[in-house]
Amino acid sequence: MSAFLLVISGWDVAPWERRFRAAAPGRDIRTWPDRVGDPADIGYAAAWLPPPGAFAPFKNLRAIFSLGAGVDALLADGSLPRVPVVRVVDPDLTRRMTEYVTLHVLLHHRRQRLYDDQQRRRVWREHDQPPAGAVNVGLMGLGVLGQDAAQVLLRLGFRVAGWSRMPRSLPGVETFHGAAGLDAFLARTEILVCLLPHTPATAGLINLALLRKLKRDGALGGAYLINAGRGKLQVDADILAALGEGALAGATLDVFPTEPLPGESPLWSHPGVTITPHNSAASVPEEVVAYIVNQVRRHEAGEPLDNVIDRQRGY
Ligand code: NDP
Ligand code: OXD
Repeated sequence: MSAFLLVISGWDVAPWERRFRAAAPGRDIRTWPDRVGDPADIGYAAAWLPPPGAFAPFKNLRAIFSLGAGVDALLADGSLPRVPVVRVVDPDLTRRMTEYVTLHVLLHHRRQRLYDDQQRRRVWREHDQPPAGAVNVGLMGLGVLGQDAAQVLLRLGFRVAGWSRMPRSLPGVETFHGAAGLDAFLARTEILVCLLPHTPATAGLINLALLRKLKRDGALGGAYLINAGRGKLQVDADILAALGEGALAGATLDVFPTEPLPGESPLWSHPGVTITPHNSAASVPEEVVAYIVNQVRRHEAGEPLDNVIDRQRGY
């Protein structure tokens, strides 16, 4: 039985290692960088933010599992071995993201930041509240996460649209795709929710030119951005410019081009911005390890791996 290697940076490796040992007793579990042992023993690896070149020594590697849904950090490594790369698709992670999207769509829809400010000033004042059915939410990304969020937003009564690379059909959702469908999607969208992967095609997509195309004269009287996809999709300075000129009335940002968000970023103190530390949908060891250990067992028994990403597409 080949050894399993954990290559983790930015997170505490201990809970992951504990969980792998509990879920796969008898498996030789190693950790990068100090307890790798003989590189030839390593057959499988799981990773979060691996440094470039980390996998180059492992000539007998059969698959790499990302510990998150996004694989951009893995694919950024030009020396990544040509083995299957598997991403996380996990109902717990999906539910967490849908909670986040719903929370922040409602935060903007129900003007919670305004009421927070009023509370600080002891102001008792009610503002007009359009019904959800008058508000256009647009999801960029209609994959596992976008589809689940769409269902809950529809249940709440919002008008939901989605934008994807290829055509998609989803009950109750107005769908758009590709470069040709982008402007029409933006023109009807008041709350833009970004759940896209970071690829060469999506890098820098959320810029001032795009934000200016959002619908500002809808029921909410302004446009809002929620980005829980990847930080490199957005240009921070352009979000600030959009807020300054009124193209955006507010933004919720979970991800940033540089993480942690530098202390000097003006986003921290902007009254229209709500910030979370890339935790909209955490990977929880209990769930994710069971998913990976199962896949390894099945793969060793000759079965195909699930949720292998397409390197050409980048997600
Ligand atoms: P999926 O692969 O299931 O879906 C990706 C979606 O993005 C698909 O609808 C795909 O289109 C669309 N897409 C990709 N490239 C383009 C493009 N160039 N133009 C238009 N649409 C495009 O991914 P998930 O839903 O599971 O996850 C999405 C992303 O969310 C992850 O890649 C990760 O970066 C991020 N994430 C962030 C977390 C956080 O904590 N902040 C947690 C988990 C994930 P198509 O349907 O045509 O393939
Ligand atoms: C992920 C993430 O990709 O946590 O799952 O960002």
